[in-house]
Amino acid sequence: MDKLEKNTEIIKIIEGNTKILVPAETLNNISPSKLKIFFNPKAVTNRDFSIIAYSAFAKKFQGPKIFLDSLAGVGARGLRVANEIKNIQVISNDINRRAVELGSRSSVINNLDCYLAYNDEACNFLSVHSKKHQRGMIVDVDPFGSPSKYIDCGIRATMHGGLLSMTATDLQVLHGIFKKTCQRKYYGTPIKTTYSNEIAIRLMLGSIYLVASRLSVTINPIFVENNFHYYRVYVKISNRPDNDNKIGYVLHCRKCGNREINEHVQICSNCASNTEIAGPLWIDKLFDREFISCMLNENYNHINRKCYDVLKKCFLESNIVGVYFTSEEIASILHMSPLKLSEIIYGLQKIDFAASPTSLNQCGFRTNAKINDIFEVFQSHK
Ligand SMILES: C[S@@+](CC[C@H](N)C(=O)[O-])C[C@H]1O[C@@H](n2cnc3c(N)ncnc32)[C@H](O)[C@@H]1O
Ligand SMILES: [Zn+2]
Repeated sequence: MDKLEKNTEIIKIIEGNTKILVPAETLNNISPSKLKIFFNPKAVTNRDFSIIAYSAFAKKFQGPKIFLDSLAGVGARGLRVANEIKNIQVISNDINRRAVELGSRSSVINNLDCYLAYNDEACNFLSVHSKKHQRGMIVDVDPFGSPSKYIDCGIRATMHGGLLSMTATDLQVLHGIFKKTCQRKYYGTPIKTTYSNEIAIRLMLGSIYLVASRLSVTINPIFVENNFHYYRVYVKISNRPDNDNKIGYVLHCRKCGNREINEHVQICSNCASNTEIAGPLWIDKLFDREFISCMLNENYNHINRKCYDVLKKCFLESNIVGVYFTSEEIASILHMSPLKLSEIIYGLQKIDFAASPTSLNQCGFRTNAKINDIFEVFQSHK
């Protein structure tokens, strides 16, 4: 234990297998956004997923292995990358000087000579690193609230073939409580549904895709994840133009429960009612099956096994087109009790549809079946 200036008590914690110096008060359940030097112990799973994803990505990447952590707080993510993945040069940055100092001190106690820490504004930092040969193999943008103001500089600082990871914590905006703000920040309209988290992720991806298109690069999402506090997307950046349209709408029918992804706005294809419209947003795949398989092969004993359980679901759902359903909502439309996920999935597969659990909801399933086919499976259990 020691004291940083202004009598901040500093303690050493271990996350993953990395020693991290953090202000003691960050462990006291105070809202992290109220703290001057940022560290959120509850974000350990978020960082665990990063370790798995970055490690899988770095193995296949040809070129200089640089990780740019643009809003690093006390440097937890970058320190873990430097210590747990190895052979990656970490360049960490935060606007808070004392957080940066702590990160540097943590790098010393972990004997890391591949960790550099800067104290700059994130857009300045990323712009400095947007020149050729200075870009990142991986760039992380992990702000308070919306990442929208960092999308341009995040993309510019990512190498061709590199990975941009981005977090959003402005859940109320993305869930449709502040629609106008969402249109302004993410270029699309959200709607409130049982699968609002998938719409939120697709809105984030849609806005990154549109900015990327303006900058003449393209994105491919390879992994997404969320919990109650954040959404996080991992997209591969390529400087090849993409002529396929990846932007459209999620159409939701309040009358029959039908939902579909479409390039155009239209009435419900099941009951011809008017649909509620979310978007424009990303309408293509959320996961790259091969990449998820590589993530599953990254066996880190010190990482919570729950991450691997989530990844198994990502793998199963990776090639299924469409947004997910939940057992509860179908049961409530049909006035019956929810079915077990295994019963629904088996029932749909038996009539030749693709079906799997979804990583985005414990009670959710993803399928290419239409709502009436799902009803049929439920009704066969009455
Ligand atoms: C959510 S925290 C980052 C958490 C960190 N990535 C982790 O995994 O623990 C956001 C950080 O951004 C920093 N920050 C806020 N505005 C900034 C800006 N414009 N430029 C650089 N850093 C900024 C804050 O000081 C804070 O440490
Ligand atoms: Zn309908």
